[in-house]
Amino acid sequence: IQKRVLFISKYWQDYANGLKITLILSIIGVFFGALIGTLLALGRRSKNPFLNKLSSGIVEIIRGTPLIVQITLFVYSFLNIIPPEFTFLRNKIFLASIPMCLNSGAYISEIIRAGIQSIDSGQSEAARSLGMNERQTMIYIILPQAVKNILPALGNEFVTLIKESAVVSIVALHDMMYYAEAIRGATFKAFEPYFYVAVIYFVLTYSLTKLLQQFERRLHRNDRD
Ligand code: ARG
Repeated sequence: IQKRVLFISKYWQDYANGLKITLILSIIGVFFGALIGTLLALGRRSKNPFLNKLSSGIVEIIRGTPLIVQITLFVYSFLNIIPPEFTFLRNKIFLASIPMCLNSGAYISEIIRAGIQSIDSGQSEAARSLGMNERQTMIYIILPQAVKNILPALGNEFVTLIKESAVVSIVALHDMMYYAEAIRGATFKAFEPYFYVAVIYFVLTYSLTKLLQQFERRLHRNDRD
């Protein structure tokens, strides 16, 4: 016990610093991911064949390659291209968050698409027969219902991103996983550093999941079916 306490009191600051990066990346990821995902979902629904193919292509490529590959490819290629004086552009949090947002956007576009598709076609038929045009049907009938399916799934995406953000340690971004590796290097211990990281991730995702469950219950409180 004493050794555990000593370990925590010695390294908690590192974990706290790492936690900050983990949270920053995940929050940026869902936020901009939601924006990008909406654009991609719109693109995939568009009747313009170019936009349509382009957005499907982007989504397929992103979902068909591992996040760890996207991050290393993107971050290291840009570090090679960007001249040293552009310090902001060379900021690794900035650089790594771009592939994170794009990745998340691709998955979110599918979430949005599934949410829209989950609404019974009778809803849009009824709206159209009441004289609404396609746009009005989407905005007033389909989307308000689809949101109930989309929001909880977006929350899950946030949970996923919290966990997936651990891969940024590979480009030496100082997130929690990075510190765990560093502490292992410094102490020659493997169990403690990784175990505490696992505990922190679990506490984060578990409490978030519980919160989302409550939110979801409230969303569905006045459903009849
Ligand atoms: N581990 C998978 C990959 O490397 C998942 C990527 C992230 N998933 C997500 N929902 N944003 O491709």
